[in-house]
Amino acid sequence: MLYSEKVMDHFRNPRNVGVIEHADGVGEVGNAKCGDIMKIYLKIDHDTVSDVKFETFGCGSAIASSSMATEMIKGKPLDQVADLTNKAVVEALDGLPAHKLHCSVLAEEAVKAALKDYYNKQGIPYDPKQFPDISCAGCH
Ligand code: FES
Repeated sequence: MLYSEKVMDHFRNPRNVGVIEHADGVGEVGNAKCGDIMKIYLKIDHDTVSDVKFETFGCGSAIASSSMATEMIKGKPLDQVADLTNKAVVEALDGLPAHKLHCSVLAEEAVKAALKDYYNKQGIPYDPKQFPDISCAGCH
């Protein structure tokens, strides 16, 4: 089968869909080639993600990736959130087809954009190296 059961599960029953009003950090990213858009909202208390929601206008893999990414960062301290990689999201989903890897990159980018937004809003200094441009070998 092209997609793992976990991908199908998170696609059919995505976790943490929605909007957080007055979120502490919001990240919106898009992929210019496929046109998909992903938005992540973070609520942060004591340097920990106390709540997270997402909206994704995109393919099934992008929905599954964002759902899994939100599950992976919920309740986690911010330094762990900053370390989230698209590779970890793909592994947690039991894999994605090569031509769908860029969908998981979008999830990593959206989470990091939301975290960066939080740091910027709070005036918290951060190391720009924590937020490198993400590239993905399998992307089209
Ligand atoms: Fe664009 Fe999946 S095809 S994010």
